Amino acid sequence: MITVIGSINLDIVATGPSLPRPGETVTGARLARHPGGKGANQALAARRLGAEVRLVGAVGADDMAEEALKLLQAGGVGLSDVQHVNGETTGVALIGVNAKSGENLIIVCPGANAVLRPDDVDGLAITHMMGVLEVPVPALLAAAKQASGFVSLNLAPALPVPDELLAEADLISVNETEAEAYGDRVHRSGALVAVSLGSEGAVLYKDGTEIARAAPPKVLVVDTVGAGDTFTAALTVALIEDQAPQDALAFAVTAGALACTRAGAQPSLPLRRDVDALALKGK
Ligand code: RIB
Repeated sequence: MITVIGSINLDIVATGPSLPRPGETVTGARLARHPGGKGANQALAARRLGAEVRLVGAVGADDMAEEALKLLQAGGVGLSDVQHVNGETTGVALIGVNAKSGENLIIVCPGANAVLRPDDVDGLAITHMMGVLEVPVPALLAAAKQASGFVSLNLAPALPVPDELLAEADLISVNETEAEAYGDRVHRSGALVAVSLGSEGAVLYKDGTEIARAAPPKVLVVDTVGAGDTFTAALTVALIEDQAPQDALAFAVTAGALACTRAGAQPSLPLRRDVDALALKGK
């Protein structure tokens, strides 16, 4: 069982001809709403890849909560540790997607995600854990200290984190921007460090030394939202399954690539059989 300590959002997505620069207005976009949040996305991604998963998180006591939890529920992610918090809104992510390149920009309004406390994880029997920085660090730290198995931390978005938290990790995953923000600190943690490089794939390091590198299969990119979450979840699932680092990384970049072929975060998360089939084709 993987316990995910993470965020739950409703994604409001505008897909248009280009992304605005500061001060610019871009018109002609198409509007969509999808369940999202890095924690929720990773929970559902791991579930679709075959793991038993429960999510610990918080939503508001509002109409958006049901919409944000819909695909998690349908997908079989355990939700009994998700709180509905009075007086808070469900987290919302405002997302712009460039229809040509699939690139995105995201503004998150955390709402109820910000109220998760160490007390909320206290007493939970946690074996394997995944955590993201869209929920408060003290809750993540308390959960990581309680975990008896594999601890995967996706340090996204880049925020200040104590060394005490990094020291609990078996796997730290970051994208290129986050890798630059954290610098060598992540490599000194003793954890495996995965850096995702977008269309270039990903690299896995141990103690600052590269131990694996994988390129993704070529796919038609529709929307990259959720690809990083899929990559992290797939790598975590594969490493928990004891796959060798090179195989685990290849599996993760294949899953991440598949997530780019459909619109939206959670609607695009791939099934295990589709990842395995695409990986086989590339061999
Ligand atoms: O990683 C993608 C996610 O980031 C989106 O689903 C959005 O909710 C933000 O949390």
